Amino acid sequence: MLTNKDNFNIDDFYKKYINGPQIFKKREALEPSFVPYELPHRDNEIEQIAGKTACSLRGGVPSHFLIYGKTGTGKTATVRFVSQKLAQYSEERKPWWIYINCSIVSTPYRILAHIYNTIVGSEQIPPTGLPKDVIFKKLLGLLDYKIKNSVCFFVLDEIDLITDSKQGNEILYDLTRLDENLELCKTCLIGISNKVKFKENLDPRVISSLGEEHITFPVYNAQELRDILESRAHIAFQEDTISEGVIGLCAALAAEEHGDARKALQLLRKAGEIAEKNHHKTVTGDHARKAKQELERDHIIDYIKGMPLQAQLVLTAIYLISKFGKDRIIVSGDIYEVHSELTNMIPGISTLTRRRISDYINELHSADIISAEKKSMGYYGRTKVLQLNIELKFLETILRDIEKVKDVLNYKPILIQNNKVRISNSTFRRLG
Ligand SMILES: Nc1ncnc2c1ncn2[C@@H]1O[C@H](COP(=O)(O)OP(=O)(O)OP(=O)(O)O)[C@@H](O)[C@H]1O
Ligand SMILES: [Mg+2]
Repeated sequence: MLTNKDNFNIDDFYKKYINGPQIFKKREALEPSFVPYELPHRDNEIEQIAGKTACSLRGGVPSHFLIYGKTGTGKTATVRFVSQKLAQYSEERKPWWIYINCSIVSTPYRILAHIYNTIVGSEQIPPTGLPKDVIFKKLLGLLDYKIKNSVCFFVLDEIDLITDSKQGNEILYDLTRLDENLELCKTCLIGISNKVKFKENLDPRVISSLGEEHITFPVYNAQELRDILESRAHIAFQEDTISEGVIGLCAALAAEEHGDARKALQLLRKAGEIAEKNHHKTVTGDHARKAKQELERDHIIDYIKGMPLQAQLVLTAIYLISKFGKDRIIVSGDIYEVHSELTNMIPGISTLTRRRISDYINELHSADIISAEKKSMGYYGRTKVLQLNIELKFLETILRDIEKVKDVLNYKPILIQNNKVRISNSTFRRLG
């Protein structure tokens, strides 16, 4: 691998890349948006969704329903798969499928505008501005005029993201009652969620029309993930490029983390990319293990960069004490002090209560970025002892990329400047 960036020669790199061994046959088959031709271990769920939607082929109206299941259990892929199959078997009454990902299209207005614009095929409804009842009227007219006697399916993916507000519940209520105002077209709403408890937030009126029927997707075990990876590897990789045992290893590594097929596929893809980058002919177990490490690092980077600034500052406080305090035992009281020093250096940031600091510490602990263990510290009583779980250098590279944090990374906290050292349970003043 090319490590010395000063000697990087782009021409050599591309030549070597083009002439190097070819690992992938169809790389996009490992992308999350790829709809596979077959879905191993989802027959039961396919059957249930096909059963609920089949009546649309004969002019019937499917009931609305919900789909639950943990992340990466194939909910979105299965719905897309069934919708494509259903289209193959419908001749006269081709159903329409409108996908709405509520993490992207999240306000009631935008949901209605998205449905309308998708059906007409152009951006006719502006992103803001029209009163809701006007859009509704336009939408009802459009459904009858354009979709006529067919069924229009609305798939609200990640529906839990809109159900915690009153407006979110209202739009769901309206969407489940559209048929009362339609003459020709019929509609069916399918809600998908990976939060099993999201129903608690639903308005009882919405539950009665949407939540009565549901399908649950179980998590995959290692053997099932293995079959999924095998069928996908067949499409994505050149023949004989995957060494014996790699698929099983990727499946086992992903199964350790709640049987998420997305993670398993990411791992296999990354392993392939590492092999490719190194001009190796085959993907090996070492590539898979390296891929796992890299994905974990990417995940930590995304997580830290996505945290609120105050949480980033709490982490920075831990970083500074670890960096300048060397073997110092870090207790939560230290974080409170260093955090308040940092707030003096960064404009527009306020100090936090001990309680809030403790909440952020707990969050960092849950994300496994630090460990926080309650210990008896003699004079100090019971307190939390903190330790970074990631390398100091790695953390520094992440923090350097955060605009408001990067300038305080060389700040030596007062508690370290005071030359006090805490060794096991006692505090000593350093001599000389
Ligand atoms: N049984 C399966 N066979 C083949 N590929 C699968 C299977 N289940 C899931 N996948 C693949 O795994 C990835 C994740 O699946 P999908 O996006 O459907 O998960 P999800 O349940 O919708 O997760 P989330 O709740 O995070 O949205 C996709 O790339 C999908 O194609
Ligand atoms: Mg999904």
